[in-house]
Amino acid sequence: MSILDAIKQVEGLMPDRYKELSREEMEKRVAHIKRKFGKRLFIPGHHYQKDEVIQFADETGDSLQLAQIAEKNKDADYIVFCGVHFMAETADMLTEKHQTVILPDMRAGCSMADMANMQQTNRAWEKLQHTYGDTIIPLTYVNSTAEIKAFVGKHGGATVTSSNAKKVLEWAFAQKERIMFLPDQHLGRNTAFDLGIPLEDMAVWDPIHEELQTEYNHEQMKVILWKGHCSVHEKFTVKNIADLRERDPDIQIIVHPECSHEVVALSDDSGSTKYIIEAINRAEPGTKWAIGTEMNLVQRIIQEHPDKQIMSLNPDMCPCLTMNRIDLPHLLWSLEQIEKGEPAGIIKVSETIQKDALLALNRMLKNT
Ligand code: 13P
Ligand code: SF4
Repeated sequence: MSILDAIKQVEGLMPDRYKELSREEMEKRVAHIKRKFGKRLFIPGHHYQKDEVIQFADETGDSLQLAQIAEKNKDADYIVFCGVHFMAETADMLTEKHQTVILPDMRAGCSMADMANMQQTNRAWEKLQHTYGDTIIPLTYVNSTAEIKAFVGKHGGATVTSSNAKKVLEWAFAQKERIMFLPDQHLGRNTAFDLGIPLEDMAVWDPIHEELQTEYNHEQMKVILWKGHCSVHEKFTVKNIADLRERDPDIQIIVHPECSHEVVALSDDSGSTKYIIEAINRAEPGTKWAIGTEMNLVQRIIQEHPDKQIMSLNPDMCPCLTMNRIDLPHLLWSLEQIEKGEPAGIIKVSETIQKDALLALNRMLKNT
């Protein structure tokens, strides 16, 4: 072992020698460990994962499905989560104490989840309480840290995913007059708009300047949107849609609700990754589609539907860089660490945070 590899091992990082292995060798070793562990090992994979990883997933799904799958699995001692950090945290909170959740690369975070920290959230809540008193309930997209979920749970709110956001917002409006929605302003705005709330009744909370951004009266606000976004989905633009429609007026455009409201409004349809996959599965052969979501998924959909003409809404799109941190070398390394009895990349949410975060997660799971 090189000195660099020894240091990496101490730091819980994958040694470089894994990068030198052939794909064939890695696949053989992963398959062997999977066979050896059987049901004691479970690998969930998010739709945005690379093909080289997803081929080994025991189940694939969108954020909601993966949370539900984690909750149901009672057999696995090790859950090697092929997705990003917040998803692994959610899996840890929804599984039993004896089950260990592992993220094959600790650097697989989510830039959107990082856009809301606790200090900013406490400050925002304090100011919003001052303005709105007890008329507001917090909701958070699952793409947030366990701490933010705990904050939301403690204050009577729930988590949402892109597949159940509408139902959870309806539930929230039955509890209180207003919603504070963290951290993705676009999913919050698109969902509230679908429920009939005019854009003038939604304000943006800027956590850096600690101010509510709206040109309208604060009293009329129904939804306070955290100023966060997905750095992947913000790359789909109104210009992409205009260019495409000009070139091909027959093309149907379907996008993820993490895209801006303007993009969603100009598209033919929008929905979670699961919704997009199902819409294309249902589509007639020969139909033409442009998809506005992460590139690994778009490429997989293209390969699975040679009878349809499918492309990315943005021709210059690249995959989600943090999702892409999980690759075959990291998957193999994390499995071999388990085999050696030295699991690395363990995700463990503290009991205090978990207690409150589970309130938010369970309110979501109960209402969807
Ligand atoms: P869904 O899987 O819920 O559609 O979410 C997409 C996403 O951005 C996950 O990070
Ligand atoms: Fe986060 Fe966007 Fe990547 Fe999803 S696609 S993990 S929201 S940065």
